[in-house]
Amino acid sequence: MARFTLPRDLYFGHGTLAELKNIKGKKAIIVVGGSSMKKNGFLDKAEGYLKEAGLQVKLFEGVEPDPSVETVLRGAEMMRQFNPDWIVAIGGGSPIDAAKAMWIFYEHPEAKFEEVAKPFNIPPLRNKARFIAIPSTSGTATEVTAFSVITDYKTQIKYPLADFEITPDIAIVDPELAYTMPQKLTAHTGMDALTHAIEAYTASNRSDISDPLALKAIIMVKDNLVNSYSGNKTARDNMHIAQCLAGMAFSNALLGIVHSMAHKSGAVFHIPHGCLNAIYLPYVIDYNKRICAYRYADIARFIGLKGKTDLELTDSLREFINKMNKQLNIPSTLKEYGILEEDFLHNVDRISKNAVLDACTGCSPRETKAEDFKKLFEAAYYGRKVNF
Ligand SMILES: NC(=O)c1ccc[n+]([C@@H]2O[C@H](COP(=O)([O-])OP(=O)(O)OC[C@H]3O[C@@H](n4cnc5c(N)ncnc54)[C@H](O)[C@@H]3O)[C@@H](O)[C@H]2O)c1
Ligand SMILES: [Fe+2]
Repeated sequence: MARFTLPRDLYFGHGTLAELKNIKGKKAIIVVGGSSMKKNGFLDKAEGYLKEAGLQVKLFEGVEPDPSVETVLRGAEMMRQFNPDWIVAIGGGSPIDAAKAMWIFYEHPEAKFEEVAKPFNIPPLRNKARFIAIPSTSGTATEVTAFSVITDYKTQIKYPLADFEITPDIAIVDPELAYTMPQKLTAHTGMDALTHAIEAYTASNRSDISDPLALKAIIMVKDNLVNSYSGNKTARDNMHIAQCLAGMAFSNALLGIVHSMAHKSGAVFHIPHGCLNAIYLPYVIDYNKRICAYRYADIARFIGLKGKTDLELTDSLREFINKMNKQLNIPSTLKEYGILEEDFLHNVDRISKNAVLDACTGCSPRETKAEDFKKLFEAAYYGRKVNF
């Protein structure tokens, strides 16, 4: 049996944040990140709309980028004290992911992090609250996905929690929230979205339902990301939709080893998630092409790239990504990013072993062992050709 799950309602377009006025309930907790939503007035607006709807509102502020287990447990504790029937998460992937994990421990205080971190092992939710996600970056698409990425800083491992239980009930995709993204964030989150769509199109769990969403997302990223990076508002509007489509695809098709590598090296090298995906993606395409060049060729044809054979088309796709990375000022190797060789060598065995255990490795088109991950990390560090 195959399953395809999305939020029940998705509001999209300018000004849709105001949909919060129509929420029916008693109490809402708003979970938000650092300061950007407050500074730009969106937090006040969200709070105002919820109050207009007659709800009592409490704030959990200050979720850090790449949220920790500790932040999640603090938020869940606040929720247990306040007893909200709505959780409203607003901001980038970090506060929304943190709020999803808080939701689990709010409804199930006895749950153990190690248990819920096992794929599709989250106990039933919605006995106490429902969930609204409002993204302010154009990349993670966590507003429509069954994932939440939480970092255990003791082990320096990012855990993707995965279960349709944490797919939000309502997503509000209002592009105005993304207008204030600085250039670097626009580039990194946009490449995260492109990686989601490409990995969803080649993942072992892909389907005829996820494929068209992935392809549409890829062509929209191709047509809009560089212009969005340059500050064009229409392109930014389009990227907000493109990333959401990619999310609908990958939440159901799942991902691949670009994400396994990014999850296991992000907390070690302190490189933003989307930037790591952008660096690893061309190397992984070369690694996977023995198995699924025909899928990459499909994508290349769909977006108008040149090539006569599947392998030529796959090469065109890899070069298109390399070119886009250059246009977005994203380095092509970990070394160029500034990771010291001794730091890399000190960690490479550990992150290679950890990557095998990542939930995204199981749905990759090609089986990948620790020694393969090591060779891939080395290729991405030194800029070596992948021919294994
Ligand atoms: N749940 C999923 O399906 C999924 C998918 C991919 C990635 N992730 C995770 O999401 C996290 C990354 O999320 P992200 O890339 O959205 O970044 P983020 O939420 O970590 O935010 C990065 C920075 O951008 C700022 N920011 C956010 N929106 C802004 C805006 N509109 N204007 C100005 N500044 C803004 C934040 O305050 C923060 O300082 C990672 O932990 C990653 O692993 C989750
Ligand atoms: Fe991602």
